[in-house]
Amino acid sequence: MTTDAGDARIVPVVLGERSYEVAIGTGLLPDAGARLEAFFRRPRTVIVSDETVAGLHLETLQNGLRAKGIVSEAVIVPPGESSKSWPMFERVVEALLAAKVERDDVVIALGGGVIGDLAGFACAALRRGVDFIQIPTSLLAQVDSSVGGKTGINSPLGKNLIGAFHQPRHVMIDIDVLDTLSGREFLSGYGEVVKYGLLGDADFFEWLERSGPRLRDGDKVARIEAVERSVSAKAGIVSRDEKEHGERALLNLGHTFAHALEAATGYSDRLLHGEAVSIGMGLAFGLSARLGLCAQETPSRVAEHFAGMGLKRTLADIPGSLPDADGLIALMAQDKKVQDGVTAFILARGIGDAFVTRDVPPEAVHDVLTEALS
Ligand SMILES: NC(=O)c1ccc[n+]([C@@H]2O[C@H](COP(=O)([O-])OP(=O)(O)OC[C@H]3O[C@@H](n4cnc5c(N)ncnc54)[C@H](O)[C@@H]3O)[C@@H](O)[C@H]2O)c1
Repeated sequence: MTTDAGDARIVPVVLGERSYEVAIGTGLLPDAGARLEAFFRRPRTVIVSDETVAGLHLETLQNGLRAKGIVSEAVIVPPGESSKSWPMFERVVEALLAAKVERDDVVIALGGGVIGDLAGFACAALRRGVDFIQIPTSLLAQVDSSVGGKTGINSPLGKNLIGAFHQPRHVMIDIDVLDTLSGREFLSGYGEVVKYGLLGDADFFEWLERSGPRLRDGDKVARIEAVERSVSAKAGIVSRDEKEHGERALLNLGHTFAHALEAATGYSDRLLHGEAVSIGMGLAFGLSARLGLCAQETPSRVAEHFAGMGLKRTLADIPGSLPDADGLIALMAQDKKVQDGVTAFILARGIGDAFVTRDVPPEAVHDVLTEALS
């Protein structure tokens, strides 16, 4: 483990000249000026955030920057997935231009995954690429979306279909901001934490089985440990496969199902992204067991941990009606991982042993969904 002078843990993302560091700790936001000043060519920046996060944390960030003479203005969008849209993209890009952001300036994304994806994509397009710093404030954004450079917005035809790879210059993760996150949003992000254990690290999953309740209940030492292990896992995968030609696809464990469920529920409050992912991971393990790839007990062990943590885990946990199995399969066909009309699945031979395959009998998917809907 590496720590910096301010006692934050440092995880490197190694990508040649686009390498950067992820700093993880407590009390980082008030210290933002000292931590970030080296990234600014001139002492000014624009912060993109959403109304909720801005109301809670913008002033602390701006005061922290001001302590080192960095002036900032803010571009604020409504909270929620619907901000990952063309109209909001246009609004952010135009606001950054109106704020006279120059090619060598650095923009800050302060918020959850929606803000990171939207602001990152705006920066990728603005003046053919302006640098940005991620300050993720939701657990999901801290452990997943802020690292790795995937940015983008949704199309009415599907999620994340418009976007660009644009790596941040730095990621600053202050665990303290999680104190203001709702319990539901925290658990939604926890789904992505468990994902790292399930896809490639059985020891981490075991640690989560023991420590999950402590970190859910606010233990900062456990939270730092979980975020660091998750970020290290993601950084390793991204460093080896930045553009998702192979291993990075494992990060989509549960997502083929999740994206269909999010589309079916209209990207609404009915189902948060991380909730869809945890249900999707349950379905992926169920499918793996049905295909004889993993032991029959494995999906039950996963389900038991999800239930113990209070995570959503079955289709019955989604309020309201859903399409039938054929309807969900049609939505899965819009997935970005579809090639020549064949959908890719991330399946598992056991906990910590996931792999990508296109060789999945459609009847097995149909059966798993029919059973889950019954
Ligand atoms: N780029 C990637 O690699 C990647 C990876 C995973 C997910 N994503 C994307 O991330 C998005 C989901 O991210 P999310 O779950 O963070 O959603 P989000 O950004 O909508 O944040 C969830 C909610 O929590 C609020 N919030 C955030 N931080 C808070 C805090 N500290 N205190 C109080 N409220 C806070 C937000 O205002 C919002 O209402 C999806 O669009 C998904 O596609 C991207």
